[in-house]
Formats: sequence, structure tokens, C-alpha cells
Amino acid sequence: MTTEYENGQLMMRGHKIADLAKEYGTPLIIYDEDKMTSIMNQYHQIFKSHQVPYSISYASKAFSSIQMIKILKRQEMELDVVSVGELYTALEAGFPVEDIHFHGNNKTPFEIDYAIKAGVRFFIIDAIDEIGLINELAKDLSETDRINVLIRINPSVEVNTHEYISTGQEDSKFGLSLSNGAAKTAIDLIQQSEHLSFKGIHYHLGSQLSESRPFINAITNVFTWLDEEDINIEVLNMGGGYGVKYTQDDVRFPIESGFDEILTHLKETLEASNRPVPHLMIEPGRSITAEAGLTVYEVGTIKNIHGISKYVSIDGGMSDHIRTPLYGAEYEVIPVKLSDDNAQVSTHVVGKLCESGDVIGKHKMLPHDLKRGDFLAVKSTGAYHYSMASNYNQMQKPAVIFVSDSGVREVIRRQSLPQLIENDVR
Ligand code: LLP
Repeated sequence: MTTEYENGQLMMRGHKIADLAKEYGTPLIIYDEDKMTSIMNQYHQIFKSHQVPYSISYASKAFSSIQMIKILKRQEMELDVVSVGELYTALEAGFPVEDIHFHGNNKTPFEIDYAIKAGVRFFIIDAIDEIGLINELAKDLSETDRINVLIRINPSVEVNTHEYISTGQEDSKFGLSLSNGAAKTAIDLIQQSEHLSFKGIHYHLGSQLSESRPFINAITNVFTWLDEEDINIEVLNMGGGYGVKYTQDDVRFPIESGFDEILTHLKETLEASNRPVPHLMIEPGRSITAEAGLTVYEVGTIKNIHGISKYVSIDGGMSDHIRTPLYGAEYEVIPVKLSDDNAQVSTHVVGKLCESGDVIGKHKMLPHDLKRGDFLAVKSTGAYHYSMASNYNQMQKPAVIFVSDSGVREVIRRQSLPQLIENDVR
């Protein structure tokens, strides 16, 4: 992210974070828009340089909003959705429906019907019984008008990440197994169906992966299976999961060298099995938005338990920052204004919700003279923060702004108090 201190003040693209916090209020999620577009371009460049047919499909679950989707459209990205809500948001933003892919391990009949009528590009089939369901709901289509589908398979590769975000293994609620025959059965059923057209394979190995090895192993496993079963594909979707740097200890997935290795291995594999290059797809979410985002909070209560701990409470918490309570995720917490003498003390930064587990970070080194009314920033909060925000304790969802070289704009207004009860029957 393009944040740095200037005269002791945290800045983003020439704007003082403290001024933005005062103007828009806190908690405030601030995105560096130029950073996001430059990562999208990095993905485009590496695929272009390999001269392969490809699309980069952003996983909208990481962070979705009308303005975000408009940027994606301008950057020639495609879009993954996992619910009718994500699809609706994309359509309202004017995103071309023919560039949208519908995922999910339990698409409801309503969602399938909505997506068929809208005209999404692919359904990604996640279960055998979904085939009959989609086929039935597509019965009014003309004979020539087929629903294009990929099947989500589990390529059984080991990944090194948190259990909750690891998905490509055999024992999973997602996808179809290669070894027990479910994936092959699904393809046979699709090919026999009246309204579906089998286009290819999708897999997602898990999230926050920092190296190319699991992606390379997946290619080997998948093409071994495709060769054994004599299956042809037009599309290969390798999923998302490219890791980011939340703290100095994390290793960011190297987009350029990582995809060089993956695409080189893929080309060799295709050559060995005498196959043409399919249309390649990937689905990055977090790697586009996480490091471009930062959350600013205002400090409230400060509690010094002498000789034991110092607690600093901020004006948000697990309602806008669930990844630490849920996954034990570590973040960097930094002051928005440096103290004059730079003296720091170990501090527990906690939220204001009624849960002991509402912790943003423990043992963070922060200015010793931090006081009520100061601002703190939590870095790399651009993915799975706003999108996982809740109204627990009737907390209002935060405002979101985009900062770029050309200015600042509000993209999501702070939820208002009346909005908290707008669906309540009085
Ligand atoms: N494609 C599929 C099919 C997925 O299931 C996911 C994420 C992605 C792409 C994007 O993965 P990414 O590039 O963003 O890692 N709430 C969790 C993450 C859950 C991810 C689920 N699927 C977290 O905060 O870490």
C-alpha cells in the first residue's frame, strides 16, 4: 500500500489519514484504488506475456460494492459470485452478465433460476444433484441455447494454510472427488443432459497460499486424471487463494514468478498429453484488495493493568474485523500520528463489543502516550473485512472510501441508525 509517514503523519497518496478519519468518521475503511488496479494489471500482464487465452475473475466475496465492480469492469476483469446477492450487486453496477460465473456448494433453486434468466457465463457445478436441478430449471430454453457449466473438483493436493480456508482436499464440503468417481459421474450426467454443456474444470485449493507448488501439483493431478478418463476440456479454472502480506512474517504469493512457473508447467503438461491450451481462468480475491485496504479507528478507553497489560479500546471491533477472533489472524496496528519521542509500549488493541475474544491484536508496539481521540490504523484489511462485517451489538457497518492519485471518494456510506432497524416490524 502507498502509505508512509510524512512529518510524523500517516499518509496515503498524499492525503493525511487523520484528515480523512475526521471527515468521514471512524471506523473507516480506506482503499488505495491505484494499488488495486495495478495488481489487476499485474495479473493481466503475466498471462498476456505467456500468450495464452485467459480471464482473470475477481472473487467478489473478498470485497464487493457498486464502485468496486465498476473498477473491475474498466480493468477488463471477470467476476465470480456465490450468491444471488453478489449477482444482484454486480448487475446493479452494470457488470456484463456474460462475464459472471456462478459458484456455491448449495445454490438454491431461486438463485439458479435468477442466474439462468440473467444469463451468467458459467455455472460451476459443485454437487451431483445440482445437475438435474439446473437442467430442470433450464427447461424453457431453446434447444440451441445451452447452459455452460464447469465442474468443481478436488485435486487432492496438500496446502499449507488455516483449516477453515483450505478447500481442495478430498474431505470437503466443496467440489467433487476424482478418486471416488463423483467428478466423472458428474461429467457423464452433464453430457447426457438436455440443457447443459460441459466446458471444463474448476478447482480452488484454499486461501492465503504463498507458493506455486500446490498449483503445479494440482495441474499434474488434474491432467493425469483427464488423460486416464479421456476427458477433453475447453476451460481450466485454477481458482484463487494467492497469499498476501498481513504482517512482516507473511510471504506474499509472487504473482509474476509464481505464474511463470505455473504456466510453464501447464504448457509442458499440455504438450505431453497432446492437448490444446484451454481457456485459462483464475479467481483472485484477497490478493487484489487486502493490502490495498486499511481500517482507521479512534482510540477510546485506555486501561493500564499495572505490571500486567495495557488495553486500548477502539470504536469498532469484531463487527468490522472478524478475522482475528475467527482465524487468529495477525495484523499490523500502527499509529496515525507518530509520538514525538518514538517511545513504544506493548499494547493489547481490543474492540468495543461485548466479547473477550473481540481482539484486534495483542502485544502491539504502540506509542506510550497514546490517548483518547487518537487514531490507530490496522493494515491489510481490504479483503474479507467489510464483506464479513456484521451488525452484532447493533454496530453500524463502517464507511468505505477510495483514495487515488486523482482524489478521494466515498464508495459506501456508513450505515445509519435507522438502517439498523429498517426491516424490523414495529
Ligand atoms: N474462488 C473460490 C471458488 C473461492 O472459494 C475463493 C475463496 C476464492 C476464489 C478467492 O480466494 P482468495 O483469492 O480471496 O483467497 N473468509 C476467509 C476466506 C474464505 C475464502 C473462501 N473462498 C478469510 O477471511 O480468509
